[in-house]
Formats: sequence, C-alpha cells, structure tokens
Amino acid sequence: MNRAESIATIEDYEAVAWDLSHLIPNNNEDVITEFGVGATAFTGEVDYVVDNLKKVAAWCKSGERQQYIGFAGEDAVGMARLAVYGKNNVSDPAVAEVVDVGTPNFGVYVCNPYRGKGVGRVLAQACRRAIDLEFDGQAWTAVDDENTASQRTVERMGFRIKQIIGSTLVYTYNAPDADYL
Ligand SMILES: CC(C)(COP(=O)(O)OP(=O)(O)OC[C@H]1O[C@@H](n2cnc3c(N)ncnc32)[C@H](O)[C@@H]1OP(=O)(O)O)[C@@H](O)C(=O)NCCC(=O)NCCS
Repeated sequence: MNRAESIATIEDYEAVAWDLSHLIPNNNEDVITEFGVGATAFTGEVDYVVDNLKKVAAWCKSGERQQYIGFAGEDAVGMARLAVYGKNNVSDPAVAEVVDVGTPNFGVYVCNPYRGKGVGRVLAQACRRAIDLEFDGQAWTAVDDENTASQRTVERMGFRIKQIIGSTLVYTYNAPDADYL
C-alpha cells in the first residue's frame, strides 16, 4: 500500500536512508537535476543520510516547511516538500517575479522503478492538505513543459498555470479557486 508520512514522525530513519540512498543514484538523474542538494543530501553513506533526514525533520514547522516521505509498502521511494524560500532563494529570478514568494514552493519526486504506481499522488494529497491547513491555502510550483507526469500531478491537486516562461510552466494554487481534477 502507498502512503505518505511526515519526515518528522519517521520511526526508522536508517531504513529510509538505506532505501533512498540506494534508489536515487540508480536511473534517477532527473531527480538530481530537479532537486540538486535536496536529492544529493539523501545519497551516500547511510549515516550521512540519516543525519540529513534528521536535520530536515527539525526544520519542519507549520507555515514554513513540511516534508513527506513516500512509501510503497515498506519501501521509502520518494519525497515531497513544501518550503517558503523567499525571493533570493528562488533559483529562477523570472519565476520569483511571477509568484508570491511568501507562499510555499511544492516539489515532489518518486524514484524509478516505483513511478507510475500512485506514490506521487499520495504525496501530493498529503501536501495539498498541509497547504490548506498550514500555509493559508496558497502555494506555487514550476514544471517543465515536457514533464507530463508532474503536470498531471500538480493539476490534480488544484494548481493552475499562472504564466509560461520559456519552457517553464509556473503554477499557483489558491484554495478558494482550486478545482480538483
Ligand atoms: C512527477 C512524479 C513525482 C509522479 O510520481 P508517480 O508516482 O510516478 O505518479 P503517480 O503514479 O502517482 O501518478 C500521478 C498522476 O500522474 C499521471 N502520470 C504518471 N506518470 C505519467 C506519465 N509518464 N505521463 C503522463 N501522466 C503520468 C498518473 O496517471 C496520475 O494521474 P491520475 O491520478 O489522473 O491517474 C514522478 O514522475 C517523478 O518523480 N518525476 C521526476 C521528478 C520531477 O520531475 N518532479 C517534479 C518537480 S515538481
């Protein structure tokens, strides 16, 4: 069964660290590209990954950051994150001009070979609940125009395209207007 669990309430960090550190480097180059240090922090020696998981858990705070681990059965196979970055930390300045940087950025990944089995959907649902309950019902994300799985995932959550910048679709979520697919 698929489930999403807050990184702050994980009981066995070693097991999560072992799974992610073995999965991410194996045929998941797009995760490294999209998430950079957010993904490499979960690769390498298990002890190093456990430390990083615990650091991230300590950062989780209502209205500022929430992060979830996606499980397929007992296996940790993905991650989703809501984080308020502030203007200077949004990597693309053109995107920072379009979105409200006081609202959280949403990001999600599921590692191969576990994609296409509904884990992304349960992670997205956990984040949507958190957006509504803890982040005033507002969020944003940016998706490449060729990334159809991600587009489908965020559109199902109720995100809608606000602007297209080159090949980047900039999406915002506004709870009162969100219609879920
Ligand atoms: C985007 C991603 C998280 C989706 O996770 P997933 O577990 O594979 O997706 P799910 O099986 O839960 O499917 C979610 C939705 O996307 C659709 N979908 C999944 N793979 C798809 C694909 N290759 N093409 C089109 N739609 C796809 C599913 O049909 C589902 O829609 P539905 O609920 O209407 O049926 C995953 O593909 C991924 O990690 N991609 C690389 C990282 C990335 O680009 N992240 C986005 C940055 S925000």
